[in-house]
Amino acid sequence: MSINDLVQGKKLKVLIVYEGKRPNWACMELINELKVRGTTTIVLPVTRITAAINFEKAFFTSKLSLDDISGVLLRSIGLILTDDQFMRRTSLFKHMEKNGIPVMNPIDGLRKARDKYMSLCILSRHKIPVPQTIITEDLVTAYQAVTRLKVAVIKPLIGSRGFGSVKVEDPDVAFRIMKTILSFGQTLYVQEYIPKKNDRDIRAFVVGDSVIASMYRYAPVNSWKTNVAQGAKTEPCKLTDELTELAIKVTKILNLWYSGVDIVEGENGPFVLEVNGAPDWRGLREATGVNPAPFIVSYLISRAKK
Ligand SMILES: Nc1ncnc2c1ncn2[C@@H]1O[C@H](COP(=O)(O)OP(=O)(O)O)[C@@H](O)[C@H]1O
Ligand SMILES: [Mg+2]
Repeated sequence: MSINDLVQGKKLKVLIVYEGKRPNWACMELINELKVRGTTTIVLPVTRITAAINFEKAFFTSKLSLDDISGVLLRSIGLILTDDQFMRRTSLFKHMEKNGIPVMNPIDGLRKARDKYMSLCILSRHKIPVPQTIITEDLVTAYQAVTRLKVAVIKPLIGSRGFGSVKVEDPDVAFRIMKTILSFGQTLYVQEYIPKKNDRDIRAFVVGDSVIASMYRYAPVNSWKTNVAQGAKTEPCKLTDELTELAIKVTKILNLWYSGVDIVEGENGPFVLEVNGAPDWRGLREATGVNPAPFIVSYLISRAKK
């Protein structure tokens, strides 16, 4: 047992939470890291975890008590959820936090980062440069915005890996797309398109008070998206002091303990495109050789329940 794994003589027990059929690659990396340290690790889908009031236990599964866990690595509460599921799951982790169990990322931060509009709104209020953005359910207003912006991006409000985002220059093409989006009960999240210097953007990976690694991401030919999942090529990036400070600042503003910050270098300075509260790091690890898992686990342990 390593000294790192003890908090005031108590053996740590870390819960990793995922959603879906099985833990994904990033979860496996965290599981391996905890295994190497000899930390007791419980891995559960969010659906199996129950919270209770005035029961003998506050948190449990049909087989296990979870009251003695030291901390949670919360990788996902799920992507497409009903209101009911969303509320239950956020309340569950809020309850854990109230009982003194650190949740990484904290549920409030994760919730803010999940909502692309809310996160940019908060950042903008802190004078962080973000693209011009609207959120609306009114087709005419959205059409007018696309017309005014000239080149716009229509994105899913909740989304990742670049899937579902479209770049539009013709307001009538945008009109047809947006009408369809509305007909499915979704909202219109429309943003100014920021041309990228050298067709690349930056992913900065923040843990606690540091940027542990960053990389340039180059959009594939004929694409404007720089997600690794969209085929972007990557290269390590030596972040300037200004961008390092920016990445750490936005992470803190959104109450995140770690994050993946997407930054576009525009003609007149940087823009923050989004802040990911449960970033993947396969591409980053390949590009930079830095494995975030030990940093994430060490950070959680530093805040583990005493
Ligand atoms: N306003 C924008 N201007 C230019 N490129 C954008 C803009 N918004 C998104 N992109 C490109 O699309 C990618 C995906 O968008 P992003 O907002 O990061 O959503 P996600 O990665 O969650 O799907 C970005 O990494 C960037 O390359
Ligand atoms: Mg992104």
